[in-house]
Amino acid sequence: MKIAVLGAAGGIGQALALLLKLDLPANSVLSLYDLAPVTPGVAKDLSHIPTSVKVEGFAGTDPTAAIEGADVILISAGVARKPGMDRSDLFNINAGIIKNLVAKVAEVAPEACIGIITNPVNTTVAIAAEVLKAAGVYNKNKLFGITTLDVIRAEEFVAELKGLPSEDVRVNVIGGHSGTTILPVLSQIQGISFTDQEVIDLTSRIQNAGTEVVEAKAGGGSATLSMACAAARFAVQLVDALSGKQGIIQNAYVDGGNPASPFFTQPLLLGKNGIDKVLPYGELSSFEESKKQEMLSVLHADIEMGIDFVSKTLVTEAS
Ligand SMILES: NC(=O)c1ccc[n+]([C@@H]2O[C@H](COP(=O)([O-])OP(=O)(O)OC[C@H]3O[C@@H](n4cnc5c(N)ncnc54)[C@H](O)[C@@H]3O)[C@@H](O)[C@H]2O)c1
Repeated sequence: MKIAVLGAAGGIGQALALLLKLDLPANSVLSLYDLAPVTPGVAKDLSHIPTSVKVEGFAGTDPTAAIEGADVILISAGVARKPGMDRSDLFNINAGIIKNLVAKVAEVAPEACIGIITNPVNTTVAIAAEVLKAAGVYNKNKLFGITTLDVIRAEEFVAELKGLPSEDVRVNVIGGHSGTTILPVLSQIQGISFTDQEVIDLTSRIQNAGTEVVEAKAGGGSATLSMACAAARFAVQLVDALSGKQGIIQNAYVDGGNPASPFFTQPLLLGKNGIDKVLPYGELSSFEESKKQEMLSVLHADIEMGIDFVSKTLVTEAS
């Protein structure tokens, strides 16, 4: 299997590449691409780690060599948040980056599964879908917004609050990937009960966890190491499922036919062709149901922004 990381010289990209070098199945090819000239050096550096994952690195303005023949393409290219910014502030720069990179994927590796990390994920995934549709190669079972960071944060924060081993906590996080659109379904966690105040506080902490990191890094970027861990967890599970391993379930932000929203994060059964089945997200408490209803207008506006961006830029390019 060939796995490409676009944005591989960045904070997320380098850490993600390291984890993939360690965790991908033997004989995988890990292909790194970034605008930054350091990228072949990052690949060289990783290639000295003794695992049987082959690493190659490409820099410059053309990602073709990196994505040719790729089965999975993870995209973290773009700019990250600084204090005082929210994810939508990233839109102006990152929208164009995603549009151009996905257009290249549509041309060079139209069969690949695409995992989008670049924020604002609620919108960049919609942009990717529109670009793939315009190129006539859209497969909704192969496009994912990677929201695993919300899941690992929720699991860690619940474990911390309740004094449990982190490995034992599983949390279903649904909705989208920004602020109030992130909805941890705490009521479904087996064997743990929360007071109403704990639910309010935990939900808010999980929704704002990215800002915790942005502020603590004091202008030096947003979550990179935890995000790399989350993306590696998702990518390795996806690779396993594509290789035929059965029963792999991961949450991601997808075009899954949810009547509530054209794109929605929920559990997915992964298989040899990407999404095998979109699974129901289960019963919600009345608190969670009201939070879900509240988020929908935000989610819809984020998605519309992506669709508008692509339709306007395609019209401009055509004229
Ligand atoms: N999905 C999530 O949960 C999540 C979490 C944290 C951050 N993010 C997002 O991930 C993105 C990357 O964050 P980071 O901290 O790694 O940023 P970073 O600035 O450290 O790295 C970004 C990299 O992208 C590269 N790049 C920019 N334009 C490119 C292009 N057109 N082609 C190839 N490479 C290009 C840059 O050279 C840089 O190396 C940001 O948009 C950030 O908001 C997502």
